[in-house]
Amino acid sequence: MIIAIDGPAGAGKSTIAKNIAKRLGFFYIDTGAMYRALALKAIQEKIDTQDTEKLIKMTAKTKLDLINSPGGLKVMLDEKDVTQQIRQPEVTKIVSDIAKIKEVRKIMLALQRQFGKRGNSVLDGRDIGTVVFPDADKKFYLDATVNERSRRRYKELIEAGQNLTLDEVKKDLLYRDKIDSTRQIAPLKKAEDAIYIDTTDMTIEQVTDKVLGYING
Ligand code: DC
Repeated sequence: MIIAIDGPAGAGKSTIAKNIAKRLGFFYIDTGAMYRALALKAIQEKIDTQDTEKLIKMTAKTKLDLINSPGGLKVMLDEKDVTQQIRQPEVTKIVSDIAKIKEVRKIMLALQRQFGKRGNSVLDGRDIGTVVFPDADKKFYLDATVNERSRRRYKELIEAGQNLTLDEVKKDLLYRDKIDSTRQIAPLKKAEDAIYIDTTDMTIEQVTDKVLGYING
């Protein structure tokens, strides 16, 4: 069984996807983490975000894996655990520029489909219901107002010890939303058959229960 959860940054996708996977005993596949790992590698190798050719070559040579461990999802980049590093603001800043490259997406698409075949899975991202698994058993599109999404991201980052203002977080979020939803390949879009949930005034528990209700119903 495949459950697809798409939506913009800060809509609560990863929290909900993790909860659902835990409750159902499914694999959790964070597809954004895969693009983030590539962005981290580009920074480490000092590749310019505009150097498409180099980024494609780098991606083709990269080994990515997502491991569901008892302590949570582990993101492996060339056999190294980068779970924490991929959340750095420097990575967040450039990830959309890498995720818009057609050939990079092609490689990630194949890998995401492969991960999905490991067993029952919950995938979250931007194009899961539209492109990666158009035949997913259940599709959800989570959304919230830009102010609420910024507030959530800000809280998360502050709790993780990062030093950013709410305004900076909002600006970054709007920038990514724009690139993610206007790119030519697999833009962020609600699949026609996805269930739309506005999470602005909902708690995590309420959204989790609602999603589970649709899956079990
Ligand atoms: O969900 P996130 O913020 O960790 O995602 C990081 C970036 O990766 C996001 O700006 C868009 C991109 N992404 C994508 O293009 N397609 C996906 N399926 C998941 C993420």
